[in-house]
Amino acid sequence: MDPITPLNIDNLRDSLTGKIVGSAFHYHESLSSTMDETRRLALDGAAEGTVAIAEEQTKGRGRFSRVWVSPPGLNLAFSVLFRPEIAQLPYINMAAALAVCDVVNDLTDETASIKWPNDVRIGGKKLSGVLVETDLVGRELNHAVVGIGVNVNLDPSQHPEIAEIATSILAHSGHEVDRSDALRRLLTHVDRYYADIRNGASLKDLWASKLETLGKTIEVRWVDDVIEGFAESVDEQGNLLLRKADGDLMTVVAGEVTLQV
Ligand code: BTN
Repeated sequence: MDPITPLNIDNLRDSLTGKIVGSAFHYHESLSSTMDETRRLALDGAAEGTVAIAEEQTKGRGRFSRVWVSPPGLNLAFSVLFRPEIAQLPYINMAAALAVCDVVNDLTDETASIKWPNDVRIGGKKLSGVLVETDLVGRELNHAVVGIGVNVNLDPSQHPEIAEIATSILAHSGHEVDRSDALRRLLTHVDRYYADIRNGASLKDLWASKLETLGKTIEVRWVDDVIEGFAESVDEQGNLLLRKADGDLMTVVAGEVTLQV
């Protein structure tokens, strides 16, 4: 295997000067999870926009505590600290997924879509996942940590266990991608969306326009039940509105259900 080209953090720092996202970088060869590191930094008073990034995570996690696996040095795995108003929180998840779609647009000829609530996919295969963890005290939001994992230079065909379900930027650009450039683009897009959010914009309509889940009959798993319905739309919080066979409209909350397939 080729030696790993480490991320060029000094260049990133320079090119993101003056932006909120990327206001500070904490780069690690190996961490248990960038989520934990960013939470630790947040509790230490780190500035909004602080990024913790690792070449390797020994306990990377996804939604519902699923394991997030990413071979060292090939992909991007990082978390960003935000301190938004609580009303802006739903848009943070949307901003992250939209920013990944924008990077796909920048670096490939493909168009990515979002499987509700936060998987970015190309051709039905997962490219990226977003995980948002919050520190709430009552109705007070102390901070939100947004974790983003993106398959950049992973060659899925070399990993038979995920070849059918995962894809990467490499698989669609046809050549190895400069991860530092991909990260700079990604953080710049997130920063732009976050500026819009802070100016009072809703990202809901843009995010909804990228949701491949809408307009389909789908199944959601909720506790031990599987519920079928037609994915009609999303509300302002990003919840999925599912029309069941009996005509009832069910509000499906991302933290509570998983989509079947
Ligand atoms: C999912 O698809 O369920 C979300 C996956 C999120 C993975 C990223 S990688 C960087 C950050 N650190 C983690 O441990 N998880 C997130």
